[in-house]
Parts: sequence; C-alpha cells; structure tokens
Amino acid sequence: MYILGINAYHADSSAAIFKDGIMIAATEEERFRRIKHWAGFPSQAIEFCLKEAGITLDQLDHIAIGRDPKAKFWKKIKFAIAHPNIGFSTIMSRLKNAQQVSTLEDEFAKHFPSVNKETLKTKIHQVEHHRAHLGSAFFASPFEEAALLSIDGSGDFTTTMIGIGKGNDIEVLDSLDFPHSVGIFYSAFTQYLGFPHYGDEYKVMGLAPYGEAKYVEKVKNVIKFTEDGLFRLDLSYFNATKSGVVSYGDDHIPNVARLFSDKMVALFGPTRKKEDELTQYHKDLAASVQRVTELLIFHVLEGLYKKTGLKNVCIAGGVAQNSVANGKITLNTSFEHVYIPSAGHDAGISMGAALYVNNQVLKNPRQPAIWSAYTGSRFSNDEIEAYLKSRNIEYRKLPDEELYDVVSDQLINAGVVGWFSGRAEFGPRALGGRSILADPRRNDVKEILNLKIKRRESFRPFAPSILKEYVDEYFEVNDVVPFMEKVFPIKKEMQSKIPAVTHVDGSGRLQSVDRTISPRYYDLIDAFRKKSGVPILVNTSFNENEPIVNSPEHALECFLRTQMDMLVLENCVITR
Ligand SMILES: [Fe+2]
Repeated sequence: MYILGINAYHADSSAAIFKDGIMIAATEEERFRRIKHWAGFPSQAIEFCLKEAGITLDQLDHIAIGRDPKAKFWKKIKFAIAHPNIGFSTIMSRLKNAQQVSTLEDEFAKHFPSVNKETLKTKIHQVEHHRAHLGSAFFASPFEEAALLSIDGSGDFTTTMIGIGKGNDIEVLDSLDFPHSVGIFYSAFTQYLGFPHYGDEYKVMGLAPYGEAKYVEKVKNVIKFTEDGLFRLDLSYFNATKSGVVSYGDDHIPNVARLFSDKMVALFGPTRKKEDELTQYHKDLAASVQRVTELLIFHVLEGLYKKTGLKNVCIAGGVAQNSVANGKITLNTSFEHVYIPSAGHDAGISMGAALYVNNQVLKNPRQPAIWSAYTGSRFSNDEIEAYLKSRNIEYRKLPDEELYDVVSDQLINAGVVGWFSGRAEFGPRALGGRSILADPRRNDVKEILNLKIKRRESFRPFAPSILKEYVDEYFEVNDVVPFMEKVFPIKKEMQSKIPAVTHVDGSGRLQSVDRTISPRYYDLIDAFRKKSGVPILVNTSFNENEPIVNSPEHALECFLRTQMDMLVLENCVITR
C-alpha cells in the first residue's frame, strides 16, 4: 500500500511517501526550487517521491495533506467577527489558500495531466495541521505509549496541541487557539531584535548565550503561564490580530508581518534594525526570551505529564526546533525520554499526515521507529562521473578506505571539505549527507568557515557530529541525538579540546553518529579519530545562503563559488 503525504501552501512545503507503513522517501520542495522555505504546491518533491517508489500517481492508495480548512471553522468565523480590523487582504489570502486546498485534485491534475481527477478525489484525506505534527512525532517514535506535544506559530487556527499516543491511536487532550502562540511570541522578539526573515528564530537562540537572562520578569509581562498547563499572550503587546502572521505572495515565499505592537516598544525600548550593532542589552534580551521560552515549554510539559503520567514524550512543531530547550527537558521535567523527528518543523507535516492516515485512520500496525533522516536525493558514482566529465572537471575516484584517509588528512591540514554522500537529509539539519566539514580542534574554524563559505553572523555556533560511543566522554548528558535536535553542555575538561564546536556558554548542538544508520559518515569520523584522537567533526549544512545542496550540480556550483578546499561527491574527489 502506498501513501503520499504532502505539506502544501504552507512554509517548507514537502512530500513523503510510505510503502506498507515504511517511509521510503521524503524531501522539501525548496531543495528543488532553490528558494528557502518555499511554500506552494510541492510538485517536484511529489515527482521525486513517486520516482523513488517506482510508481505513478494513479498507483497511490491514499494521499494525505496536512491541512484541514474546516478545522475550528466556527472559531475562525467568531474570531474574524471579533477582529474586523484583521485586514481584507489577509482574509482574502487565507480564503485563496483554503480554496486551493479544497481543489487539490485540480492542482494534481495541473502538474500530472494524465491523472483521473475523480478517482484521485476519493483518495485524498485532509489531516489537521497539529494532528499531522503529532503523527510525525508519535508514529515515528519508538514508544508504544507517550505523551504528545505539538507547538508552533500556528496552523489550522491552532498553536499548541497536547495528546496521548497508544499503539496506533492518538487522542487529543487539549489545544490552544490562535493567536496565543509561543511561536508568535518568539518570532515577535526575533523581529524586535533585528532579524526580520521567516526562520530567523535560531539566530536569537544562538545569540542568547552571550547575554544574561536579566529581563525574565519583564518578558513574562507579555506571556502568561496559566493553570490549565498552557499559556496566553497579553495581546496588547502583539499585532497578530491586526495583520495576521505569515502570508504568501505569488512567489510562494513566506512573509512575516510585524508581530509586536507599539506597547512592546514602549516596554522594551526602540527596536534594533538589521544593520544596527548588537549591544549587551540585545544579548540580555535574547537570553531572557530564550529563558522564558524554556520555562514555558517545561510548564506545558509538566502539565502534560500530570495529565498522562507517562515518562515518554514526543514533540513536533516549529518550537520543537529550539534545540537548546529540547536538551534541557529531561533535567527540568518529569519526562525521561524525548523523541523529536528530523523534520520537527512544518516540512514534517507531509510525513506526519501520511503516518496519521496509515496508523490512525486506516489502523495499520505501527512500523519500527524512524532514526534515519536520509530519505532525500541520491546519485550514483556513475551519474556523478558523467556529470563531472560533461563539465570538464578533473577528479580522482578513490575507494572508501583511501577516501576517508585523504579527506581526514585534508581536515587535519585546516581544510574545509564539502561532503556529498548517500541520500540527502529530510529536515533543516545536514547530518553527514550534505555537509561541510572541518576540524573541531581548531580555534579559527569559525573564522575560516565564515571567510571561505558561510558569511554568517559571528555569534552563531557550529555543531559537532560525534561517534555515538563517545558522547559520554565529551558531554554532560549521554543520549541518542540522531537529528541534532538537542543541545547539551560539553564537559569542562573537554571544551578546550574542541573549541570550534563549543559555544560561548560551553554547550554544543550534537549529532550522535550511529554506524548502523550512517556507515560512511561514521567511518570518515573514525578515520579522523584515529589520526587526531578526537571522534568529532565540525558539521554545517552544505550551502551558501540557499537551501541545502541537493544534486552534484548544486554542490559543484557551491564549491566553485566559495573557497572550499575539497569537494567529495560519493567517491569522486575534487580539489583546487
Ligand atoms: Fe506547524
């Protein structure tokens, strides 16, 4: 049985395909379109999934879209009546979006002309946004039973949903309506601090450790922790009810409206503009916003624990990308085990909607947990060689052992290596499939990477990939972190050994590398360990102000455009 899941008309549109309950392909549309967070109909991602499955659209048994315009319909109407100033254009844009979803079969027919629309119509399931998030977390998790949390900016008029998962069933316990949203709260301060783009929130998270959380009480004025285990915004500080939140133009690029009100400016002072200097005040405010977010997540989770009494929790939604908060959950709540999927953000909606249909709607049995994010594009050595020859690019083809030897030497000699190996990752993190690698022992790696390739804000940290057997030796917490979804403190005595991946507060956003899941990446790190004594590499995504590279062509263009020292495409090595 084939089930296709999609996230469409929403940021990070994507597709995922399951065969008999096993995910065989999943990818974001932005990887093909080359536009970050692309938000239209994911036609190229769908084509890719069908090709991976070796089937045509007609052969699909079910199609799940992670969006249900009917969800909370009367609440939306009530809200629109209560807020007539929300703006005609926002309402029109939402109606346009809703209309697109209701004629999904037309959209499929536009991109796949041979399809029989009437047959297709009978196969389509609309899965509410947060139920799809919950599905992506629980049904992919290793837990037979778990507490569930979906938490984001907003989707289908909901911002937070809690539930309980048992076997192949999710029961929703409670949900919070738009605009009371941790995502809106965090994004409002992200804008206020001078980071205006959709998806800039991780910059505030990276900045926070440079500050002191001096303004926690002041920040708590704008968001109230409530006794029902949830929270409410003080809406007088926010603009969300006036302008809406995220809109999409004809270019399908998400655009965030100004989310905070003048009252916020009166309380916190003038806003920072993008080009303004980052002062200590901005850093302290970032630290305070991050701290309040962490306290809020712990508060919601503790409420959830009281309702469920379970020790396992599965989390998804944009706020689940807050890896700093994620790393502190087991220390600050009653939960002992946390599962967060590789695409915890909205791209994961495709995977979650398909899982929801498979397990919840069709009652098919659960399949083994998903620990691998490698479900994207792949290219054989033959394809790569043919491409390099067509471009007249010189390369050497090396067998695996020799390849690891040459690459680890290059890293030890201060080289920066573009590493394109196996399948692309599903989710925002590069995990050794489409990564740029460097030596973690060097003090100057951040400068080298920023100079040669990334040109990004100097306060943002680079992350370590560590062989899983050594996590305990380097980190204060020993846990499996396959998707770089948690930040842990690095042991004091180890920090000076790996300065390139130690953030200013002594933390690191790790990926624990498992040989059974990432054999080639594992063996490369192990080759580096044998020479350097350190089982770690600096791992940053293979891109330069663009979506992560998806094909040998993207990788080569990035290599030629930047000053990377070596490019590895499977077994082919290109040097300058
Ligand atoms: Fe979401």
